[in-house]
Amino acid sequence: MPKTGSVVGIDVTDRDGQGRRVDWEPGQSLMEALRDNDFPILASCGGNASCATCHVFLPERIVELLGERSEDELELLEETEFFDPKRSRLSCQVAHCDQLDELGVVIAPEEA
Ligand code: FES
Repeated sequence: MPKTGSVVGIDVTDRDGQGRRVDWEPGQSLMEALRDNDFPILASCGGNASCATCHVFLPERIVELLGERSEDELELLEETEFFDPKRSRLSCQVAHCDQLDELGVVIAPEEA
């Protein structure tokens, strides 16, 4: 079980290319951390892996570390315009863990 208990810092690049470092609190999903820090994450399904408005790109090595996406997440991501098999995740499905300190997150472009 990954350890979670410390606030970790994440470097987020917004859709306009601007970067900002924010805190990710234990107990939050990555989507919640982004939304609470005023990034344009609609999260219209409330974190249930059914809207894809929380789509982000993570470094490949982190996507590998996080392991397999659920079937629902993968199906939804594959339907998005900007799906990158190596870097795409639904941020609502990424749980906080201390090993993700200094994670680089890029918010995916909005769907047309
Ligand atoms: S918030 Fe809807 S899929 Fe993540």
